[in-house]
Amino acid sequence: MDLHRMLEKCQRGQWRTEELDWSRPPPVMPPEKERAVVQYFTDMAGIERLAAALFETQRLHAEDPVLARIFATFVADEQRHARTAELLAAHYDVRQLEVYRQSDELRVFAFHFVEMLRHVPAEVATTYITVGELLLDVALLRSIDAYVDDDMSRDAMERINRDESRHIAIDFYMTEYYASDAYQAWLRKQPWRSLSQHVSAIWSFGHILRHARPFFRDVFLEPMQRVDPTGRRLTEALARYQALIERPGVRRRPLPALILLAQWLSAHRTTSGVARRLARTMGLPTVLLQRAA
Ligand SMILES: [Fe+2]
Ligand SMILES: [Fe+2]
Repeated sequence: MDLHRMLEKCQRGQWRTEELDWSRPPPVMPPEKERAVVQYFTDMAGIERLAAALFETQRLHAEDPVLARIFATFVADEQRHARTAELLAAHYDVRQLEVYRQSDELRVFAFHFVEMLRHVPAEVATTYITVGELLLDVALLRSIDAYVDDDMSRDAMERINRDESRHIAIDFYMTEYYASDAYQAWLRKQPWRSLSQHVSAIWSFGHILRHARPFFRDVFLEPMQRVDPTGRRLTEALARYQALIERPGVRRRPLPALILLAQWLSAHRTTSGVARRLARTMGLPTVLLQRAA
């Protein structure tokens, strides 16, 4: 990938929430649907802020100055998405049926997740970010948009999706970069991480193991049952991830190799329980066990 061209594309792709036409009247939805939609956009704002924090850690890790500038545009993108989500929540909150607040699980998880990514190797962090982006920033958002089925949301999502395709391109690029011989050779020359660094990494990972499941259930699995009932978008996201971890260099790396192993175990009745435990121990959603064709 030509990073200079990518940076240009990222800079050209910047937009402002004011460019969207917010004057359109919102549709009248049944109360139950209105509640669900406003809650989804409220939580979406939290997810986007989490994404912004993650790209900020990536920016700080980046050795290459061009890459660091690309990540800076991603931070701006995600902050804009968060703002857009808040505006959409307000737009569809026609009847003001309740005071909406972000899922507690989301707030607790986000705090520990950012903390964890600061302590684990960049390669590991990239795996979690890529999975998170594909499931939450792409599959979930597109499904919510289809469920809302209104021009206001569609226009906003169209722009958001354009930003997301740049994010995914870089997530995939980073995954391949960390799997490359050049990076592994560089890594071998780096000083060993200190014992206290290892302890901090394990400690923060422990928090993630506790909070990942309730978080994922609240902001992904439950909404997806309603907005993606056929599971089409989930399947699409999983297929994209599968293609990535099966790339020649990537499949040999520890975390992708473990996911592939867990999928293999999951496909056999006698070992499927072990596979689920393995996924949970890695703090990864068990939906990843459905090996996409
Ligand atoms: Fe986003
Ligand atoms: Fe994103």
